[in-house]
Amino acid sequence: MATHQQNPAVTDLIARSNRLGSDAKNTNYAGGNTSAKGTETDPVTGQDVELVWVKGSGGDLGTLTESGLAVLRLDRMRALVGVYPGVEREDEMVAAFDYCLHGKGGAAPSIDTAMHGLVDAAHVDHLHPDSGIAIATAADGEQLTATIFGDKVVWVPWRRPGFQLGLDIAEIKTRNPQAVGCILGGHGITAWGETSKEAEQNSLWIIDTAAAYIAEHSKAEPFGPALDGYGALPEPERRARAAALAPTIRGIASADRAMVGHFTDTEVVLDFLAAAEHPRLAALGTSCPDHFLRTKVKPLVLDLPASASVEEQLARLEELAVAYRDDYQAYYDRHATPDSPAIRGKDPLIVLVPGVGMFSYGKDKQTARVAGEFYVNAINVMRGAEGLSTYAPIDESEKFRIEYWALEEAKLQRMPRPKPLATRIALVTGAASGIGKATAAKLAAEGACVVIADLSLEKAQTAAAEIAGDKGADVAVGVQVDVSDAAAVQAMVDTCVLAFGGLDLVVNNAGLSLSKSLLETTEADWDLQHNVMAKGSFLVSRAAAPVLIAQRLGGDIIYISSKNSVFAGPNNIAYSATKADQAHQVRLLAAELGEHGVKVNGVNPDGVVAGSGIFAGGWGAQRAAVYGVEEKDLGKFYAQRTILKREVLPEHIANAVFVLCGPEMTHTTGLHVPVDAGVAAAFLR
Ligand SMILES: NC(=O)c1ccc[n+]([C@@H]2O[C@H](COP(=O)([O-])OP(=O)(O)OC[C@H]3O[C@@H](n4cnc5c(N)ncnc54)[C@H](O)[C@@H]3O)[C@@H](O)[C@H]2O)c1
Ligand SMILES: [Zn+2]
Repeated sequence: MATHQQNPAVTDLIARSNRLGSDAKNTNYAGGNTSAKGTETDPVTGQDVELVWVKGSGGDLGTLTESGLAVLRLDRMRALVGVYPGVEREDEMVAAFDYCLHGKGGAAPSIDTAMHGLVDAAHVDHLHPDSGIAIATAADGEQLTATIFGDKVVWVPWRRPGFQLGLDIAEIKTRNPQAVGCILGGHGITAWGETSKEAEQNSLWIIDTAAAYIAEHSKAEPFGPALDGYGALPEPERRARAAALAPTIRGIASADRAMVGHFTDTEVVLDFLAAAEHPRLAALGTSCPDHFLRTKVKPLVLDLPASASVEEQLARLEELAVAYRDDYQAYYDRHATPDSPAIRGKDPLIVLVPGVGMFSYGKDKQTARVAGEFYVNAINVMRGAEGLSTYAPIDESEKFRIEYWALEEAKLQRMPRPKPLATRIALVTGAASGIGKATAAKLAAEGACVVIADLSLEKAQTAAAEIAGDKGADVAVGVQVDVSDAAAVQAMVDTCVLAFGGLDLVVNNAGLSLSKSLLETTEADWDLQHNVMAKGSFLVSRAAAPVLIAQRLGGDIIYISSKNSVFAGPNNIAYSATKADQAHQVRLLAAELGEHGVKVNGVNPDGVVAGSGIFAGGWGAQRAAVYGVEEKDLGKFYAQRTILKREVLPEHIANAVFVLCGPEMTHTTGLHVPVDAGVAAAFLR
């Protein structure tokens, strides 16, 4: 077979989609879809075949590539009209799309495929722009559409996405040859063109014309007058307040299922919450179909001013959480039918705190972040709609039909099983090197979000970037910390809480080693090692514990102690003594934190030469000299001293940390696990 030649229609479609999708004003993340029709030679018959390429289910326009397109035969797709059983059974048509695929068909066809295939235009864009949805959700949206666009854009009353909506839009296009697109009530826009360029121009014209009209005609204060005490706190105070509230709010959002969090204090959110109408509008909920699974119908809104104390806010949030869950259950009960999917959890996904910002939640960081982005879209939509008219989203029963749509449920069921540490947030100190870095990498590979803390910000960020790969800050972030400095440790925990919503797994790993005899050990040597290890891990545990307790999600604190915490040898007084201190912290904290479901365990490594900064920094050379071997052979030398005769690598320590905090080891606390290839003198008893 000759190498695949991309059809020019596809090249244009991808370029157009990427341009449209990378500008936030045009559509929300992963929202909307685009298509092109064109001709190719059918490899079976050698004849021309008419195809439609349409963005498949799930992907994002901004980053769309050819593999994200579904490819269907136009004749077969359009022939479905003949067997269409009517709107009551329109969902069946999605499965029928599979019988229209060309070749292997590319990506899975989405529910919007009918609209693209049935509309008689070579290029079609369906988008979710804030400006367009503002018109689509205005109480007099139909009238506004006529006023703003004349007969060039047609109003289509709300209808759930599907085959019937495709038929409706196709008919509108036929009946209104002068029209370039339509406003879909409660939902978004669709535009078309005979060329890719024309479709793109028409889309942008609708979006920009709507935005310009709103800018010119909106009332001055669409969200009403300022509410006393609800204005934004000054930035440092706002962030500190957010960090103080975040663990409890994450606990609230995770009552049914653990969640990762995202926080934003963007002006859009703060302005909305500072104005009088925000409680009414927030209660009306979002409208655009792809919002419901991501943000739930409505957010939880704290009804206290920013001047309230943290304690008052926390107490009120707990009350509101109970009410939110009752309210959500009632909503489910009002609308569920016997064949509805089971309720998916009653906790809020969006929590709004006036003066502070927005917390959003999801099964991973990316989902949590996008949920927040969607709510910002919703605020923009409400501002536009209220500025011109009254915000009137679709009916609650329609929202429910979308949230619990069988097709959406099927998509959820098809999702791959989450990784063992999914939704867990880990903080590893000293993670820019050696054992810490290997541990952070392992925890991330098993699904955790990780904060990499170390003395050098640059090294911490480099390690984070290496571990996260193309997922970036959604998986790992680097922070600077000196663990012996209480203020720096608190700032590190706050950064973690604001980055991922909370904290579950704490790994006290930062350390350094000076191998000296008693007589050579200076006070400064003693203090340095005790400050970093004994005191440092105490400070980290002390700053982390309130977060773990407030979340009510249990958690783990793991100490990287050492064989030397139990083994006695010469030239190690300060290091081994502070390691013994750390080891006893494990037992003390296991006893103290157990009532909160927090497990505290330790790992005793030994002889981890490869990758270890401790060994590279002189200790290795010194040890090698003591044993009369070359420094490069030290790892192998240590291996020969072990029972198993195996060299211990950073990965082996990381694996032990994973086992201790992973899903299997649920009933063990106060334990140290030796990872030393077997050293009888350091056996625990
Ligand atoms: N390598 C071994 O054989 C071995 C054996 C037993 C225990 N351990 C322990 O394992 C841990 C990691 O050791 P490693 O071998 O990976 O060493 P490493 O030097 O490669 O890593 C230690 C990291 O801790 C960081 N660090 C030091 N002081 C800090 C401070 N004040 N604040 C924040 N970060 C600080 C360093 O910058 C470094 O990145 C240490 O606690 C060490 O005592 C190591
Ligand atoms: Zn849509």
